[in-house]
Amino acid sequence: MQDEPLIVAFCCHYCAYAAADLAGVLRLSYPNNVRVLRLPCTGKIEVNYLLAAFERGADGVMVAGCLEGGCHFQEGNLRARRRVERAQQMLREIGLEPERLEMFNLSSADGPRFAEIVTIMSEQVAKLGPSPLRGGREHTERAIDELTEEAELAITGEER
Ligand code: FES
Repeated sequence: MQDEPLIVAFCCHYCAYAAADLAGVLRLSYPNNVRVLRLPCTGKIEVNYLLAAFERGADGVMVAGCLEGGCHFQEGNLRARRRVERAQQMLREIGLEPERLEMFNLSSADGPRFAEIVTIMSEQVAKLGPSPLRGGREHTERAIDELTEEAELAITGEER
């Protein structure tokens, strides 16, 4: 829908991405305004990718990693949480609400939880309204698709 918030979800391959798949298999309903970007581990996320998603016009960004203690690369999800907190601080400094960015932890079996966090995030960002950095919907969607491709290539080395 035109005025739905546009959300970029950086998802770990081992948990959130698998949980998103499961949510699809279970035919769980959740907002479809989320662009999922798959990472080998959330520890790969850098602050600049989080901020780039906002620069390209995303209204909200979520990072979804394995449960604490369950990261396949030991502490990747803890590193990601620290980067999310740093990026939230930077958003605050430039006048954007830090609630536009959140980190979640879940397991691959958490299809219902994935649907739930997408819904929570979507409602939270909808309450804040469109990002002041957002251009036209079509322009933003294209910019975010490009970011998704660039980030996926840079982070995973895989072309889509
Ligand atoms: Fe999932 Fe690290 S492997 S967050």
